[in-house]
Amino acid sequence: MLRVGDELITLIDPDAPASEAYRTLRTNILMRNFDRDMKVINIISTTAQEGKSTCVLNLAMVYAQLQKKVLVIDLDLRMPTIHKKLKLKNKKGISDIISHQAEFEEVVLQPYENVDVITAGTKIPFASEFIQSNALKEFIEERKKEYDLILLDCPPVGLVTDGIVAASYCDGTILVCASNRNDRKELLRVKDQLEQTQVNVIGIVMTMMPVQRKYYNSYGYRYSDTQKKTTQKKKKNSIISSITKKSDKKK
Ligand SMILES: Nc1ncnc2c1ncn2[C@@H]1O[C@H](COP(=O)(O)OP(=O)(O)OP(=O)(O)O)[C@@H](O)[C@H]1O
Ligand SMILES: [Mg+2]
Repeated sequence: MLRVGDELITLIDPDAPASEAYRTLRTNILMRNFDRDMKVINIISTTAQEGKSTCVLNLAMVYAQLQKKVLVIDLDLRMPTIHKKLKLKNKKGISDIISHQAEFEEVVLQPYENVDVITAGTKIPFASEFIQSNALKEFIEERKKEYDLILLDCPPVGLVTDGIVAASYCDGTILVCASNRNDRKELLRVKDQLEQTQVNVIGIVMTMMPVQRKYYNSYGYRYSDTQKKTTQKKKKNSIISSITKKSDKKK
C-alpha cells in the first residue's frame, strides 16, 4: 500500500515492488506502440480518490528514467492536485495558457529532470467547455513535437465527463480502478459510456489491492530471500496490476 507522502514511490524507492509495477505499466504502454504512437494518454477513474494523479506522476517518473521527455498536464480543473503532490505553485497553468493570459514557456515547470508539468492554473467556471475547446486540442497537438509522452490527469468520469471528452484527443486512455471502491453497477455504467464514446481504453490499472502483510514490513518493500520467490508475484500484483485490457478499438 502507498501511504501519504510515499506517492512518488518510483523516485523515493525505485526498488520497491510498487515501482516495479509502474515500470511494468510503462513497458506495456511502450509495447502497445505497434499500431499507434501512444504519445498522449489520459488517466481516468470512475470515482474520486482511486489513484489517478499518483499513477500519472509515477508513470511520468519511470518514463523520465528512460530519458524520455514527459509533459504532465493537470486537467482536473475543478479539484487540481498535481501541484500539491509535487509541492509546486499553481499560480498560472493550462487555463491561463489556453485563455491567452500566459505563454507556455512562462508556465511550464520542471520539478524533475525530463518531467515537465503544467498545473491547472486559474480556476475557471466553464471547465467542460475548456476541455472541449479546439485551443486545448491544438495546444496538445503542438506539444507532441517536443515530448515523448504527454499525460493528462483528469477528474473522475462518474462525476463529470471531462475525462471522456479529453480521451477523444488522446492516443489511449488508462482506467484506474481501486480495489473494493467501485460497485459493479457503476463500473458497468462507465464501461458502457466508454464503449459508446469509442474511447480507446488501453488498459486498466488496479490500485489499493490488499497486501498480505505477513510478507512485508509496513512499507511492503522488504522481504527475506527465502520468501522472495513465493511472494514476488503476489506483491507485484497487489500494488498495481498494469495494463490488462486488450481493447484494440480505434477511434
Ligand atoms: N496504488 C496505490 N495504493 C495505495 N494507495 C494509493 C495508490 N495510489 C494512490 N494512493 C493513495 O490514494 C489517495 C488518492 O490518490 P490520488 O490523489 O492519486 O487519487 P485521484 O484518483 O487522483 O483522486 P481525485 O479523484 O481526488 O483526483 C492518496 O492518498 C494516495 O496516496
Ligand atoms: Mg487526482
